[in-house]
Amino acid sequence: MNIVIVKDYYELSIQAAQIVAAQINKIKKSVLGLPTGQTPLGMYNELIKKYEKDEIDFSQVITFNLDEYYGLSPLHPQSYHYFMWNTFFQHINIKKENVNMLNGITENIDEECQRYENIIQIRGGIDLQLLGIGENAHIGFNEPANVLKSRTHLVNLSNSTVKANSRFFNDIKEVPRQALTMGMGTIMKAKKIVLLASGKNKAPALAKTVNGLVSTRVPASLLQLHKEVTILVDEDAASRI
Ligand code: GLP
Repeated sequence: MNIVIVKDYYELSIQAAQIVAAQINKIKKSVLGLPTGQTPLGMYNELIKKYEKDEIDFSQVITFNLDEYYGLSPLHPQSYHYFMWNTFFQHINIKKENVNMLNGITENIDEECQRYENIIQIRGGIDLQLLGIGENAHIGFNEPANVLKSRTHLVNLSNSTVKANSRFFNDIKEVPRQALTMGMGTIMKAKKIVLLASGKNKAPALAKTVNGLVSTRVPASLLQLHKEVTILVDEDAASRI
């Protein structure tokens, strides 16, 4: 694991955007895996700025989001569809047909998950996967468990994740209890992975991810097995490494 510690959230966002820009400037048709949450917001803002300054062209870029709440329509303000279009995609020149997201209101879960795996394959796999991390070290929505499903699947969210994510909803009762997520196997197939983490609340998860044993109880620790992973963290998140 390549561990890069930066001063603060601002530096983290700048560096993350630089990694994405370098990837796209090298390969225009790059396939990106993208996360949601608060952590990547700064990176998305920096990428929008780069686009506005003509420093980056998204016209051939293909994206796959990591996950989506099960039961939320793409128009729901807390859906990850809505989040991605609102905060990022609508501000850049990405083509709608190149944006791939899981359908949270699918009527056939297995078919939807298989569809997602198939398009990732057809598009040649993910070149650069960006990740956030949950306080319990979940990635995407792969929650700590005795066993993990490798491919895209439906998952039950842990109480701690529901609680952590309730900050985006009016009431904790509105937080979906299930989600569709790429599996750890789907994520680990990416050619390069960059995990972003900021803030003291992520420090325990980061320490276990980097220094701990590889365990499905700490999903992010599986990244130790990948050959091209960068952990990009600010000083607060790195404080227990
Ligand atoms: C959610 C997402 C994850 C994300 C995590 C952390 O549960 N499914 O992909 O990494 O939240 O979010 P934040 O960056 O807001 O702390």
